[in-house]
Amino acid sequence: MTRQTIVAANWKMNGDSKLILEMSEALNALTLKNKQVIVCPSAPYLANAVSVFSNQDIAIGAQNANEHDKGAYTGEVSALMLKDLQVQYVILGHSERRAIYGESSELVADKVAHVLGHGLTAILCIGETESERENGETETVLKSQLDPVINQIGIQAFENVVVAYEPVWAIGTGKTASSEIAQQTHEFIRGYLASFDTDIANTTAILYGGSVNAGNCQELFSQADIDGGLIGGASLKIEEFSNICSAE
Ligand code: 13P
Repeated sequence: MTRQTIVAANWKMNGDSKLILEMSEALNALTLKNKQVIVCPSAPYLANAVSVFSNQDIAIGAQNANEHDKGAYTGEVSALMLKDLQVQYVILGHSERRAIYGESSELVADKVAHVLGHGLTAILCIGETESERENGETETVLKSQLDPVINQIGIQAFENVVVAYEPVWAIGTGKTASSEIAQQTHEFIRGYLASFDTDIANTTAILYGGSVNAGNCQELFSQADIDGGLIGGASLKIEEFSNICSAE
């Protein structure tokens, strides 16, 4: 089963209009074969990014969305607005949102349902902390993050979901999961999806995230169940990100 490789840049609260322009120029010079590149800048830059990347085969993603369409939710951005801006993807359930902003898996499920309801694709982040892995709880944690979403949207709706496995202990730490550990965990995630529907499991892209860089991406992306990466720090460096996008 061949799945398209996806390389997504999560700029987090970094980057500016200059980086958008420079990244667009650099990526324009590459031939991206059978690969979907997604750039996810901060919300204020989304419209700019959609416009700058409009002539390239590169999609734009947001880093969050509210679970309501509109209303008195100061500071929030809705999927309806993202759709209006021609944003195509939305990262949801990132561990920083879970840990810093207290987002529960149930809230993440509401957000996924909402984003899908507006025809956008969700990039659903899941991952265990270091102590959870040490205590042998990884699989339980991943299931507990997936179950509310599966219950809410139904397994068939995963046609419009990309899963990103991001072990919390590997994010921004330089401590990448070894390709064996990453592959084992991706295999578990795919197997869990297969327990609901094998076709969905075979076609759902599962990205790895956590200290991916130009040096380790090739080995990670070549694993059977790793379909690309969600890249943080390295996606802000033009040459490094270009190299990751060029990895076979
Ligand atoms: P780093 O690549 O900086 O570890 O961040 C990963 C991440 O959180 C992407 O969403």
